[in-house]
Amino acid sequence: MCGIIGYIGKSQAKDLLIDGLRRLEYRGYDSSGIAVRDNGELCVLKAKGKLDNLIGKLEERSFSGTCGIGHTRWATHGAPDELNAHPHLSRSGKFAIVHNGIIENYKELCDMLISQGYSLRSETDSEVIAHLIELGYDGDALKAIQKTVKLLKGSFALGILCADENALFAVKKDSPLVIGSGEDGIYIASDMQALLSKTHEFLLLESGEMAKITDKAEIFDFDLRPVKRQVYVAENDKSDADKHGYAHFMLKEIYEQPEAIERTLLSQGELSFLDGIGSIHLIGCGSAYHAALMGKYIIESLTGIRVHADIASEFRYRNPIIKPDDLLIAISQSGETADTIGAMNIAAGKCKTACIVNVPLSSLTHVAEPMYTYAGPEIAVATTKGFTTQLVNLYLIAAKLLSNKGDSRVNELMTELSSLPLLVENVLKTVSPVKLAFLLAQNDYAFFIGRGADYAAAKESALKLKEISYIHADCYPAGELKHGTISLIQKGSPVIAIATDKQLLSKTVSNIAEVKSRGAFVIAVSPFDIDACDALIKIPYAKYVAPLLASVATQLLSYHTALVRHCEIDKPRNLAKSVTVE
Ligand code: BG6
Repeated sequence: MCGIIGYIGKSQAKDLLIDGLRRLEYRGYDSSGIAVRDNGELCVLKAKGKLDNLIGKLEERSFSGTCGIGHTRWATHGAPDELNAHPHLSRSGKFAIVHNGIIENYKELCDMLISQGYSLRSETDSEVIAHLIELGYDGDALKAIQKTVKLLKGSFALGILCADENALFAVKKDSPLVIGSGEDGIYIASDMQALLSKTHEFLLLESGEMAKITDKAEIFDFDLRPVKRQVYVAENDKSDADKHGYAHFMLKEIYEQPEAIERTLLSQGELSFLDGIGSIHLIGCGSAYHAALMGKYIIESLTGIRVHADIASEFRYRNPIIKPDDLLIAISQSGETADTIGAMNIAAGKCKTACIVNVPLSSLTHVAEPMYTYAGPEIAVATTKGFTTQLVNLYLIAAKLLSNKGDSRVNELMTELSSLPLLVENVLKTVSPVKLAFLLAQNDYAFFIGRGADYAAAKESALKLKEISYIHADCYPAGELKHGTISLIQKGSPVIAIATDKQLLSKTVSNIAEVKSRGAFVIAVSPFDIDACDALIKIPYAKYVAPLLASVATQLLSYHTALVRHCEIDKPRNLAKSVTVE
């Protein structure tokens, strides 16, 4: 996901922009750049690849000025190269822009510009924005920006400089952007995390707003009507932006899970959105979808209420059947994933909506009642504590629904949930999959199997392994492998079987025997002794939360496997922490 940083104040902008980009690296990117206003001229520098490449180029040039913008680009339109990197300049160089989002009508805008004698330098959709602002400019930059945003279709968070004005402009529609006021000036950034070392005071732009920032921030809607906005003071959680001695953020966040789960358990409110509902739609992307899938098994099996789990990008375009007494819950760590917001917008107005999010006041919380997870900022691209705290909220939803029905099993479930931090602590202390990781790391493919909620845990485990070790891991319901995919099993094929459900154990053991008889090397993740497997990752027994415990065990297995394969664990290639474009 692209990252935007901007600054205006008394200090030199260059170093502050680089520091901000450094804090945005976790979002995933493949090129970067900055622009600084230096005595009425916009100076731009860009570089392909990692931020160090840009810093290296900066050493060769003097870059002075106290107002600037910066960008880390996660390519959508156009190759990840210097030409397509942001900032993009308008034809005369009077405007520079950085963009996060997608301009859906950029082809027709390109054609209009070309018909007016413009030529595009890059392959990006973003460049048209810079030219349009210049086209509409008659001396009033804010007005030119307003005219431009009226022409744009799609999602855009923008940082804009004008050579003629010592001002920083910001625009937000759907993609994330915040304004932070520090001691040495005012910043804009794609998320608060990037600015916590500078300030805890934020002005949160709403979608459809823009700002002109000088020594103060003036906010307007897209009709240039002034908007008053309360300052939001973020919690003091700077510590999360530091590895605290761990080799990777991912490992730190794996070990933070007991406290993250405890905070989430203790912080839940009334959950009144659960009163009087028919069926539930759970939607999400990536790991958030796997949480949704596990939520389906958990809530349906406990409460008898129908739960649909959908991948957000599928849900939003399949004309879903939504009844007025349904409840749609969007699950999203960042609260900014475009497909999840898009799916939420389909349901808005048709049924009750809520969201399980980790980032305070993120975009999803503006359109649905939030049920926060309290994992704290999650820096590693591959989610761990974000995922397990989503599961905690889903267990709490099941408990509330049981309580609404007067079902006494709520007491048993809540008792087990109260011991969940200790159970996770136990997994972290007792599971040491280093040897198995070494074996697994020798393979370029792996199979994960499980039944029921263990199937959802197996899907998340497979994704974790793929994301950080680049091993092609596939996941199948344990009963499904024999219907085709078992043809791929040969001597030494690694199969990870998650078996935590006592009712289904014998079935899964039969599936283990099936693959074993064809030469597979089977690693079981289970609280039970399973003779049929080659290796057992033992986890504590739990009646309800065992699939969550299995997920923690396979997080460790994936982490150590990626370590053996010398992968870049916190920032895997091609991945973004949350994709704010479709
Ligand atoms: C992907 C991330 O881009 O988005 C996954 O790499 C994540 O880790 C998915 O699960 C959904 O993100 P979010 O923020 O909506 O949970």
